Parts: sequence; C-alpha cells; structure tokens
Amino acid sequence: MQDPLRAICDDPLERKWMWLSLIMAFMMGGLLGFYAFANNIHPPSNVETIDSTRLHLSEEFAEDNLGVRTNDDGSLTVTLVAARYGFYPQRVEVPADTQVTFRIASADVLHGVHIPTTNMTTMVVPGYISEVTTTFPRTGKFSLLCNEYCGLGHDAMWSRLVVTEKSAGGESS
Ligand code: CUA
Repeated sequence: MQDPLRAICDDPLERKWMWLSLIMAFMMGGLLGFYAFANNIHPPSNVETIDSTRLHLSEEFAEDNLGVRTNDDGSLTVTLVAARYGFYPQRVEVPADTQVTFRIASADVLHGVHIPTTNMTTMVVPGYISEVTTTFPRTGKFSLLCNEYCGLGHDAMWSRLVVTEKSAGGESS
C-alpha cells in the first residue's frame, strides 16, 4: 500500500516523523476519551437560560429566595448569585454526605466558582444558570473562590462554605 503522506512529502525519514507524531496525537486523544468514559467524567451540561439583568425580578434568584433549600427527597439546593465581587449569600452551610445541587446565576459578567480541595467547580456565564451536583464528604470551612478574571475586585471575590456534621441540618445566613 502506498503511504498516504506521500502526497504531501517526498522524504521517507520526514514521513516517519509525521507518522510518529500523528500516532502520538491519536493515542493521547484516545486516552483522554477512554479515561473520561471509564471514570464517568463529563462537563456540567445544564443548559438553562436566564435574563441576567432581571435576576432580582425572577422568582428563583430574587434576594429573599437565595441560599439553602431542602428538597422533598432530603437533598439540598443551594441558589447563589455571582456578582462583582462576591457570591451571595456570602455564607452557606450544608451538612456532609448529603447531595447538594448548586444553582448559580451571574448578575453581571463571567465568573467562575471553585471550592479548593473539593470537586465543585464551574463557570458562571451571564445569561445561563450553572448547575452542579456534588456531595461534600469532609466537614470544615471551605472557600468559594472566583476563578475567572472579572474585574479589579476579582482577587477579593469569595464566599464561605461551611460543611457541618450530617445531623446538624442546613441553613444559610
Ligand atoms: Cu468573579 Cu473573578
């Protein structure tokens, strides 16, 4: 069979290197795909739009409705607004080993949320509701940090997550 790379390159040594780099690229792509599939890794895929300029008029993201809510099945929903420069409410308390779904909307520009040492991280794109479901196995105080540059106060954009013992129940203030 004739080497298909012959059409673009005459030198056999150069073609060998081209094949080598092509094979490496496909192997790396294949490995990424394999691990994503094997470990069930997928990006947050919730696509839900919202008018960021009217968050205060929406029911879910109105100021009085933010914070922790207990669902009928015992799981929690944490509703947050990300705005320059903070996540509101600024302190959220949830019990450990309980399923927590974060629903976050930006009131202005692009933000990101990251809670170091946990697997909770997502972008908060204006116009969309970001949704992440996770469980916090360890108790303690954690920081919700903004990890997308959003302006001069970006460094200071953070809020507090407190994970309590499971029996304590959840609340926010
Ligand atoms: Cu919000 Cu950086």
